[in-house]
Formats: sequence, C-alpha cells, structure tokens
Amino acid sequence: MKIIIEKNYEDLSKQAAEIVKQAIQEKLNLVLGLATGSTPIGLYQKLIQMHKQNVLDFSKIITFNLDEYLGLPANHSQSYHYYMKENFFDNINIDSKNIHIPNGETKDVKVFCRDYEQDIQNVGGIDLQILGIGSDGHIGFNEPGTPFNSRTHLAKLAQSTIKDNSRFFEKEEDVPKFAITMGVQTIFEAKKILLLASGENKAISIAKALEGPITSQITASILQKHQDTIVILDEKAASKLKRKY
Ligand code: GLP
Repeated sequence: MKIIIEKNYEDLSKQAAEIVKQAIQEKLNLVLGLATGSTPIGLYQKLIQMHKQNVLDFSKIITFNLDEYLGLPANHSQSYHYYMKENFFDNINIDSKNIHIPNGETKDVKVFCRDYEQDIQNVGGIDLQILGIGSDGHIGFNEPGTPFNSRTHLAKLAQSTIKDNSRFFEKEEDVPKFAITMGVQTIFEAKKILLLASGENKAISIAKALEGPITSQITASILQKHQDTIVILDEKAASKLKRKY
C-alpha cells in the first residue's frame, strides 16, 4: 500500500483527481469503480472541472458503482443512483449505457448480484476502484464479519452505519436496513484501488485498516494485501496512525 497524507480535504481531492485523470488518459475505456458518500464529492468536482476545461473525455469509460440501498427507487433523493447523477454523471460526457449501479428495486436479488459480477467480468474487470471507508472499517457495504471471499450480495447494514448515514435522511428510521454491495473479493480483484478518507471520525478505522491485523471485522484491512492500493488521507484521518508516512 502506498499512503499519501495531504494537508486537507481540498488537497486530498486534487491528488485523487490527478490519479484518476492519469488512469483515464492512459486507457480511454477505463473500467472505473465508483463510490458514494461525502468523501468522493471533492474528487468528482475536480473531475467535472477537468472535463469542462476539455482536459478529460469520459465518453468511453465504463463505470460500476459499489453499492445501492435496497428498496430505494433510482429517483429517490438519497439513492446512490440519484447521488451519482447529481454529483457526477450529469456533469460529464459519460455514455449512459456504460453506467452500472446495483438496482435497489430488483425483484430477484440473487440473479441481479450474479449478473452484476458477470457484467464486471465481461469488460475485463475493474481497472481502478475508488473507495471510501465506514467508521466501522467497511468498504462498500461490507460490514464487520463479511467474509473476504464475498461477491456482490445483499448486505444488512450495521447499526453504526445506519446511524452514520442517517444524516442524509430525515430520520434514522428512514435509512434502509439492507443494501446490494460488491463483495470484498469483487473489490479486491480491482487492478488498482484508491482509498480516500477525510476527517477525525475516520482516524480510528483508518488506523485499524492500515496498521491493525487483517481481519474481516475491519473489511478494509484486506487492502494491506492488495498489490496496487493507494490510500490518500488528510491529516485528521491520518492522526491515529502510529508509523510515519
Ligand atoms: C457508505 C458507503 C461507503 C462509504 C461510506 C463512508 O456506508 N456504502 O461506500 O465509503 O458510506 O461515507 P462517507 O464518505 O460519507 O463518510
């Protein structure tokens, strides 16, 4: 793992955007794994800026999102479909047929999950996966205890995640209890991974994920074994790391 510590969120986002830019410039039909949450917003804004300045062409990229809440329609303001449209896709020249996001309204979750894996395989796997991290160390919605060999599946959200994500909903009861998420193995098979974390509330999970034992209790800890993972932190998220980077 390569660990980069930036002064603040702005610099973290800039650095992340440079890495994504380079990957797209090297491979115009890059298969890009995308994350939601507040962390990658700055990265998406920088990429949109680059597009507006004619520096980046997204017309050939293929995207796969990590996860989606079960039961939320795509037009629900807290669905990840809606988030991606608003924060990224509507502002770049991506071809809508190249966008893949788990369908939170599928009638057959099992078949959907199997097909999602197949779709990833059909385009040769994910080249670059963007990740955030949950305060309990999750990646995607792979909560503590999710096996490392898991693939796209239906996940039950941990109580702490429901609480964390309730800030986006009117009340905690409105947060869906389940989600469809890429599995740990699905994520791990990405050729390159870019993990972003910002702020003090991520410091403990980052310390455990990067310096603690590799355990399915902190699913992000598997990234210690990944051959090409870059972690970009701001100083607050890095504040509980023991080693100096
Ligand atoms: C959700 C998502 C994760 C994301 C995490 C952190 O639980 N499923 O993919 O990394 O939130 O979100 P934030 O960046 O808002 O802290």
